[in-house]
Amino acid sequence: MTARKIIIDTDPGQDDAVAILLALASPEDIDILGITCVAGNVPLELTQKNARIVCELAGKNDVKVFAGCDRPLRRDLVTAEHVHGKTGLDGPILPDPQMVLQDAHAVDFIIDTLRAEAPGTVTLCPLGPLTNIATAFEKAPDIMDRVQEIVLMGGGYFEGGNITPAAEFNIYVDPQAADVVFKSGIHIVVMPLDVTHKALVTKTRNDAFRAIGTPVGTAVAEMTDFFERFDKEKYGSEGAPLHDPCVTAYLISPNLFKGRHINVEIETQSELTMGATVADWWGVSDRKPNALFIGDLDADGFFSLLTERLARL
Ligand code: BDR
Ligand code: CA
Repeated sequence: MTARKIIIDTDPGQDDAVAILLALASPEDIDILGITCVAGNVPLELTQKNARIVCELAGKNDVKVFAGCDRPLRRDLVTAEHVHGKTGLDGPILPDPQMVLQDAHAVDFIIDTLRAEAPGTVTLCPLGPLTNIATAFEKAPDIMDRVQEIVLMGGGYFEGGNITPAAEFNIYVDPQAADVVFKSGIHIVVMPLDVTHKALVTKTRNDAFRAIGTPVGTAVAEMTDFFERFDKEKYGSEGAPLHDPCVTAYLISPNLFKGRHINVEIETQSELTMGATVADWWGVSDRKPNALFIGDLDADGFFSLLTERLARL
């Protein structure tokens, strides 16, 4: 099977970093056409820098990294330094990147790539707020028909929210953008908190990352050491949830995940529940299914895959 062509749209973030590393370590499965950055966990200036730091950590300086939108479509930017630290990538000490940032705007790269590649051959993988993706769809509606699939991290249903009681961070930051994406008619695979909160880095799993004994293994262990304090305090969980790597793991091994084809819509009106992913898990509406909403994963299989692949870098 040929590698799946993807664009990673991201706001690194320690868990974004691990998702990117997993993709970079898996060229037989994943062909990264480019990494597009968006404001989210931290402002754009830092997310684009962090994406380049991560590529260099993996020794993949030739990956194209683009900066995109620096604020949501219609709301003020909300960031998450309380989770990810001041830099967004707190934990390991990593050098400033030497590799260049591409000149093109991320949105133009997304549009041009979808127009240049054969229709139905490019998958979009958003790991942050959906501002770049929605902006590309609004600027060039013709590209929507050309997307193979969108596999994204965002939302939550049974788990509720992590930034408000009702909303998950990525969707909450730009609900209008999420609404555009969920109404696009493109098939979407959603990794909500319901599944990502089961992808927990326990001490044993983090020891396995550290035991790889490479700069990548050590950096991933240090990132999760930092990132876990938030979830341990908040949820009393065993360790950090690796939200975003669920996206890239799904591309490699979809059988690790289980979900349902359902309708998912985004709340954009009520301030109380802004950004909620209204997931019709029980099929109580007659709204058309638009997403594979994932609810469970084989956590041991996921961590074996991750550890085995990260050891390649
Ligand atoms: C999502 O928000 C960010 O903090 C993480 O990187 C992840 O994409 C989890 O809610
Ligand atoms: Ca993210």
